[in-house]
Amino acid sequence: MPDRELRFRVFRHNPFDPESTPRMVQFQLTETPRMTLFTALTRIREELEPSLQFDIVCRAAVCGSCAILVNGKPRLACRTRIETLPNDITLMPLPFFKLVADLSVDTGQWFRDMGTRVQSWINAREPFDPNAEEARMSNETAAEIYELDRCIECGCCVAACGAAQMNPEYLGAAGMLRIARFLADPRDGRPEAAVFDVVSTEEGIFGCIGLAACEDYCPKDLPLTSRLAYLRRKTALLALRKSSQVEESTVADGYA
Ligand code: SF4
Ligand code: FES
Repeated sequence: MPDRELRFRVFRHNPFDPESTPRMVQFQLTETPRMTLFTALTRIREELEPSLQFDIVCRAAVCGSCAILVNGKPRLACRTRIETLPNDITLMPLPFFKLVADLSVDTGQWFRDMGTRVQSWINAREPFDPNAEEARMSNETAAEIYELDRCIECGCCVAACGAAQMNPEYLGAAGMLRIARFLADPRDGRPEAAVFDVVSTEEGIFGCIGLAACEDYCPKDLPLTSRLAYLRRKTALLALRKSSQVEESTVADGYA
């Protein structure tokens, strides 16, 4: 099969330059074997437009920095094979996050703020004792926590989410996943009221409108919709507990 001629339409704008206006710029490249979007962007910058800004660090779907909109869908540039795309490829920065320039957005500030809002750390029951034995947990619990800790903070789930586009304060699937991760951790002793206050709001679980795009576009295949459902059930049970309609001992905490 002859190598394809690829036509890229790339968003360009520097919001810090008063002379800059948002525009789409066209570039043309010949496809090469096993080309990824990372390769294509690097060639455009090296051969055609040295000022083009985009983020790439690890090239291995680990750092989460290279997420962009590819023909309208959030994807990691380093993991996207050009052979899976048509000849005409439109590249835009992720929506929702603050634009740095061209295809580069600041996901870091949003993830830091989200981490503070959900208290993304172990709320220990006891003061730290450096002489205490290491805390033990079952293999199943450790595996569950490991699974939920695989988020690379790329922002694809938030960029794909209709609710997040309408509500900039929404915690998004990544925020909700973080809460589920600490609820699964037996070392965490945060009070239920604190969980309820964060989750049972329009910025929390009630902001989700159930489109499930978060899970469709998560490049790490994280179980986002099942954890959103878990938090919704958990919130309902906490609300019942608050109104004393359910005894604490009757409330199941599992994901099933
Ligand atoms: Fe990216 Fe998935 Fe984490 Fe969302 S949950 S930030 S899509 S890795
Ligand atoms: Fe790190 Fe793509 S460059 S995830």
